[in-house]
Amino acid sequence: MYSATCEAPVNMALVKYWGKRNEELILPINDSISMTLDANEMSAKTTVAASESFKQNRMWLNGEVVPFEDNARLMRCLEGVQRLALANGGLKFPLSWKLHIASYNNFPTAAGLASSAAGYACLVYTLARLYEIPMNEQLTTIARQGSGSACRSLHGGFVQWHRGIADDGSDSIAEQLVTAEHWPNMHMLILVVNDARKKTGSTKGMQSAVETSTLIQHRATTIVPQRIKELRTAIQARDFKTFAELTMRDSNQLHAIALDTYPPCVYMNEVSHAIVNFVHDYNESVGEVKAAYTFDAGPNGCLYVLAENVAPLLAAIQVAFPNDAQQSVEYLKGIPVPPVELKKMATNGIAEHVNPKNLLKYIIHTKIGDGPRQLSDEKSLLIDGLPL
Ligand code: DP6
Repeated sequence: MYSATCEAPVNMALVKYWGKRNEELILPINDSISMTLDANEMSAKTTVAASESFKQNRMWLNGEVVPFEDNARLMRCLEGVQRLALANGGLKFPLSWKLHIASYNNFPTAAGLASSAAGYACLVYTLARLYEIPMNEQLTTIARQGSGSACRSLHGGFVQWHRGIADDGSDSIAEQLVTAEHWPNMHMLILVVNDARKKTGSTKGMQSAVETSTLIQHRATTIVPQRIKELRTAIQARDFKTFAELTMRDSNQLHAIALDTYPPCVYMNEVSHAIVNFVHDYNESVGEVKAAYTFDAGPNGCLYVLAENVAPLLAAIQVAFPNDAQQSVEYLKGIPVPPVELKKMATNGIAEHVNPKNLLKYIIHTKIGDGPRQLSDEKSLLIDGLPL
């Protein structure tokens, strides 16, 4: 039996991917840029084992059996990596050997945090390690076919996914713009919002947007290309103010497009809008842009903030969004934050807008991180080909 175990990070988009020009190959209508998050707080972990004795391909996700052969996206990823393996030559074992795959997310899938991006990136990366294919840009075109945003999780730091122009998707690749070391003090607070509503998934939501929104083409052809250029420059220069404004504007535009979809898709809720107002109030009260929000296809707010500004920002969040569990480790997850004395801070405008209690489920503090990595065999999720 041969096996490999790897972990892959989540990424959070700054300029959003929203809309496909080819549903099957998952080709986007515009470029996007994301930041890869540290795998310590949120990541997917996957073991793939191959053996002559396995009768069929099998997969377990978070301990539950999931369909394999009739999952078109999964099969496309597997076939893509196997094609590369064949082209590479020197196979250790025949490609006909069946696979057992076990995968876990170290964060709740239900929180609506980009679990498919980390999951498919991890799957493709682990398959590549198993078949001994070195990391290359073609792997990003394969991960893209699992879930579009997954291609960006194959790199650390800031990453641009190019829409490409080729019909076969060969140039729709993810490229690393800078490593995590370029801007190591870029942190993030994820405000996980209580929300029970059933929402339209990203795949379906962006499909109806392409079919019905009259604004989306303008975004793809005119707004995004300019925004990508400006954001690349801001990242290179570590210009937080420009970075923050572009990010907030792009998040707002994604949700404007969602509302321009017919029937409309509503992803943000009242708490999300309270977070938006809070960030603008906060930046105004400190007289400088120190936080930037972004929202994906759900109500959770992700706030970009530099390391040195995390503690005062968190203190202000605690004032604006009071919570019974405020100081508990279940409420404040991730990198620990030293408490700040609020009285020392300028909180004008914040204290005046205190929201009702317990609107947030919990807060995760994380930061920029590296791409996927292989783990030692002791970390395997399979024993004799079966999940632990
Ligand atoms: C709002 O990558 O989940 O997070 O390609 O259909 O699997 P599929 O969609 P997915 O969409 C992510 C959309 C987004 C924005 C982004 O990550 O750029």
